[in-house]
Formats: sequence, structure tokens, C-alpha cells
Amino acid sequence: MPETILIIGSEGQVGTDLAESLREVHGSSNVVCCDIRPHTRERAAHGPYAELNVLEREEIAEVFSKYKPTVIYHLAAMLSATAEMNPKTGWELNMDGLFNIFDAAIEYGTKRVFWPSSIAVFGPNTPREHTPQYCVMDPNTVYGISKLAGERYCEYYHKRWGLDVRSLRYPGLIGWKAQPGGGTTDYAVDIFHQALKNGKYTSFLSAGTYLPMMYMDDAVRATIQITDAPADQIRIRSSYNLSGFSFDPAELAAEIKKHLPHFEMDYKPDNRQAIADSWPSSIDDEAARSDWGWDPEYDLPKMVAEMLTRLSSK
Ligand code: SER
Repeated sequence: MPETILIIGSEGQVGTDLAESLREVHGSSNVVCCDIRPHTRERAAHGPYAELNVLEREEIAEVFSKYKPTVIYHLAAMLSATAEMNPKTGWELNMDGLFNIFDAAIEYGTKRVFWPSSIAVFGPNTPREHTPQYCVMDPNTVYGISKLAGERYCEYYHKRWGLDVRSLRYPGLIGWKAQPGGGTTDYAVDIFHQALKNGKYTSFLSAGTYLPMMYMDDAVRATIQITDAPADQIRIRSSYNLSGFSFDPAELAAEIKKHLPHFEMDYKPDNRQAIADSWPSSIDDEAARSDWGWDPEYDLPKMVAEMLTRLSSK
């Protein structure tokens, strides 16, 4: 029996890439895309699509009874910077949305659920370098608090109701197919668009702000790999640390300059600086490597070369 896969948040930054990869592997008709936004023309032409608000239980019931998904990727969330501007709505979307999807997954007998957590679960008292899987976690953003609470609920739903949830703490994600949606790490995507268009960029994070980052292809590969892994390999049922590479805005600009020698960057840190300062600069992902074989393919130079090539030909 082929799996029926449901991607919730398919039009977002991760969903766009994930949907393409999953449809290639499983066939378009077996991958149902849904999002609160109306579908893009392109996506609708390629397979089933439903408009879905994860806060509306009736809409969820309709989608679940129509498609009976066996695997769910629940990606709909409000990211760090946007949630700081809308704290109540951010909490509601991130938490109630999670409960609604988990409850429907149990009711409709979904086999496996993937849900992303984030480096935002860490806080100012977390060890900043090579942040371990288990350590002090004192997030001070609504997004981070909701992700940490969500992680605890992943483990709770697994223990209490046997829901097979798998989760990753995504670093900042960099891809060329879709724009990011209101995160603190968005500068690392915007910079490429501006570098190609205007030859310059003003960074909203200061030089020296090292953050854990990952190229989207690696993130999609990790997401599919953990979701498809045999259940006994998933020892951590909250969320796994996941690492690609780390850089600060200055290192990224220098790498871009190797390809675009006239590129210039200046700095104008805004309120996102405080968020970035509370997050780790690098991540220890030993557990993901030993439990289910995680191994990233991209480093900074490879990511930059790929981003510039892809965006210039787009
Ligand atoms: N990229 C996210 C953000 O910046 C972190 O998970 O909000």
C-alpha cells in the first residue's frame, strides 16, 4: 500500500521544497498539500491541494476523512520575529495547531507525524557552543517557548497515546525556492536576493553573530530520513539537535564576495539581534548521527555557490 502523505504548511519555506521532493519519490497523487493560503497555480497542477486552517477542527476533520493520511508533516507555524510582534496569535497558532493535528492523527489512525522544533528552544543560559542535546533550556521568545512546549508534548503524546511523532530542531534554513516567513535567520536568505539584484545588503544582525544554519536540501533530506527511519532508531521522542554549519554575517558576505567581487554589506541591527543573541552559535548533533545516521552534505562554500547559481538562473 502506498503511503498517503499530508503536508500542512506546504506553501511555506520548508513545505515548498519538501512537497517537491516527496512528490518526486511517492508520486504527486499520494502527497496532499495544504496551507492556509490558496494554492500556487503550479502546485495545484501537480496534485491534490486543500486549503486548511489548523485552528479549525472541522476543516481538519474534512481533510483527514477525505484523504486518510498515513504520514503527516505538520509545518504550519509562526516564526520568531513575527511571533514577537503577535505573541498571543503566535502562541495560539503554534500550540493549538499542534494539539489539533496530533488529536486528529490519533483519531484517524495516522502512522507517523513529523513536527519541526528549532534552535529557538535554547536561551541565554544554554551553553552557546556545541550546544548539547540535553542542557539548560530557557527560551525567551514566544516562538522558542512554544517550540519547547511542543517538544514536551511530542514526547507526551508518544508515551501516553503511542503517537509515533518524530522531530528535529531546525537551524536557520537557507533555500532558493521559497522566501522565509518572518524568522531571525532570514537575513541569510535575503542577502542572496539583494546581492544579485543590487550588489549590496544591510544586515539586521551584527558582525560576529554566529548562528547554526543549514542548506534546504540537507534539511529536507534530514526531515524525510527521520520520518522514514524504523521506529526503534528514534530514541529521542522530544526533538533531535540537528547541525549543518555555522557562520556570522561577515563570513557569509566574504563568501559571497568570492563570487560577486563588488558585493558590499553594512550593518543595521534591529530587534532581531536580541533574539539571535539568545540562541546557540553551534550545535552538537551526535544523537541524530548515531541514532538514525544523520550526515550533512553542505558546508558554507558549497551552499553559497549553489544559492548563487540557482537564484541567477531562476
Ligand atoms: N529560522 C527560525 C527563525 O529564525 C528559527 O527556527 O525564527
